[in-house]
Amino acid sequence: MKILEERILKDGYVLGKDILKVDRFLNHQVDVALLNEIGKAFYAYFKDHGINKILTIEASGIAIAAITAQYFDNVPVVFAKKFDSVNADPDSYETNVYSFTKNRDYSVRVSKKFIHQGDRVLILDDFLAQGRAAAGLIDLVRQGGGEVHGVGIVIEKSFQDGKTYVSSLGVDVHSLARIRAFIDGTPIFEEV
Ligand code: G4P
Ligand code: NA
Ligand code: NA
Repeated sequence: MKILEERILKDGYVLGKDILKVDRFLNHQVDVALLNEIGKAFYAYFKDHGINKILTIEASGIAIAAITAQYFDNVPVVFAKKFDSVNADPDSYETNVYSFTKNRDYSVRVSKKFIHQGDRVLILDDFLAQGRAAAGLIDLVRQGGGEVHGVGIVIEKSFQDGKTYVSSLGVDVHSLARIRAFIDGTPIFEEV
């Protein structure tokens, strides 16, 4: 997605070896006009799947999911919640996620009220790194008897293994910007 790549080059910056900061437009300050274009792009790709629900994870996924839902005829948005430790709750589906970025495990939960048998779910998130967050969300949907009809990602770091990992779970991954390397602090995008 051209305008997204241009925005990353203009306003993104690289921290350390492999972290791209996008807090000027995506996950701290938010550019709603850009999010609208992101929502349209996800709709264009996933519109024929009969999606009836969008699932994301707090916090950064929420704005992306909420804007995108409007293009899918206002399907409900559900965001999974993060907890520091496992706490068996009979009213929630729960899964464990390891974060490589943060080098720790956390628990991700969604109420059983919001995932149902036969749901056709689109999963959205801001970043795809190792894919553990997306895999956790897939697990939650499947625990509830729903079907995952795709994972939409705003920024994929394709030099990490996330896409391979999520694809191995039988789910199509579509990313709007794919960064194959950071060279001298500049993101280099995959050719499209
Ligand atoms: P994974 O899910 O793909 O395996 O990635 P990982 O656990 O390593 O990511 C942990 C957190 O770091 C996630 O946010 C993810 O979105 C974010 N992240 C990963 N790579 C980058 C990056 O290059 N830049 C930025 N800005 N974030 C990155 P989170 O902990 O869920 O936090 P949030 O959604 O509440 O912000
Ligand atoms: Na995130
Ligand atoms: Na994040």
